[in-house]
Parts: sequence; structure tokens; C-alpha cells
Amino acid sequence: MTADLFEAIPDVRPLREVMADGAVLLRGFAQDFENELIPALREIIAQAPFRRMFTPGGHQMSVAMTNCGSAGWVTDHSGYRYDSIDPDSGKPWPAMPPAFRELAAQAAVAGSFANFAPDACLINRYVPGARMSLHQDRDEQDFAAPIVSVSLGLPAVFMFGGPKRADKPRRYRLEHGDVVVWGGPSRLFFHGVAPLADGEHVSMGRQRINLTFRKAQ
Ligand code: SIN
Ligand code: FE2
Repeated sequence: MTADLFEAIPDVRPLREVMADGAVLLRGFAQDFENELIPALREIIAQAPFRRMFTPGGHQMSVAMTNCGSAGWVTDHSGYRYDSIDPDSGKPWPAMPPAFRELAAQAAVAGSFANFAPDACLINRYVPGARMSLHQDRDEQDFAAPIVSVSLGLPAVFMFGGPKRADKPRRYRLEHGDVVVWGGPSRLFFHGVAPLADGEHVSMGRQRINLTFRKAQ
């Protein structure tokens, strides 16, 4: 009886939620791509394993990162930048798989941004407790292109603020398959991720993986 009662509760979260002018949350948008995304992700990680980078201030990030595409985001003592070479291997970052490109372009269209052709995909891995403090994505040369962010694995609380650091962020629960697109008037809005709660995701285990697609160069 109890199970039936729970099943009768409808999921009232809208599939498409406008977060700000130029920003939209597309729930479940990546689900149709999952069968291609996960194996492609495994191959990337085998070539360019996750690593916890250091900020210019000398702090080690709690989020582990890697990249695919012709440019990859890196941080070290000298600053933040995009680099075509993985500093750990000395080789170019793995190529961006077609399924990644396709998902990013289709999500951008759903967010009203046509012809999005990302050249960089930053891959973030959060284990329980990992977080990302409020920041702007401003290391890209082209702010006309949006950011497309794909969430996989454990749910997270995404904080989305405004153009000023002091703007109070709204909190959005991002689940496996959810995609956020922001650009245009909200391209430089502050955003971050609250410390990841512990849990076990059915297919991804005890972690959250986020893909952010950018036009970096
Ligand atoms: C980022 O801002 O680069 C990551 C956002 C996220 O993990 O959802
Ligand atoms: Fe970001």
C-alpha cells in the first residue's frame, strides 16, 4: 500500500525551468545520450585520468578534473588558462567524442543558442564533500557562446547567482541527466556547487560527474 501511495505522487518539477534571462535547466535532457556518454567518458579517463589541481593561491581543489577537446582548462601556480596539452601526460587532451558534441549542441538549441560548437569540455568529478565555490567562467575568449553543463551520478545542489559575487544565489537540485545552459545576459553569472552529499548512484556509484562544454578559443 505504502509503495502505491508513493508512486502516486507526481514529479512536479518542470522539465524546462528558466533560471534567469539566458539560463535554463533542462531536466533529463542527457538521458537519451547516456548509452554513448558513459563508455566515451571511460575512454577519456583512461587516457587523461582525473587529477586534483592547485589554484594559483596554492589550494588543492576538492573537485578532480580532466578535459577533452582541442583545449582543456587547467589551473596551477601560474594561473587559470586553456591549454591544448595535458600537463600530466605532455600529450593533447583526448578528442571530444561525437556524442558529447551532439548533446552539447542540442542542449544549446533547447536553451535558444544556435550553432554551439564547443572546443573544450571540462570534466569535473565530485566525491562526497567535494564542492566548487562561487565563480564566473571567464577564461574563454568568446562570451557570445553559452556554457552547457551536464550532470551525471549523485545529485548536487547547484548555486546560480547573478552578475555580482554578492548576488544571492538560488539553489537547484541537479540530478543524473540534467543539463543547465547559460549564456547571453547570464553568461558571466556567478555559480557554484554545494558540498556533495554522500550517496550511491545506481549506475555511477559514489560520485557526481559534471561535463561543462565551452567555446574556449
Ligand atoms: C563548473 O562550474 O565548472 C561546474 C559546475 C558543476 O559542477 O555543476
Ligand atoms: Fe563554472
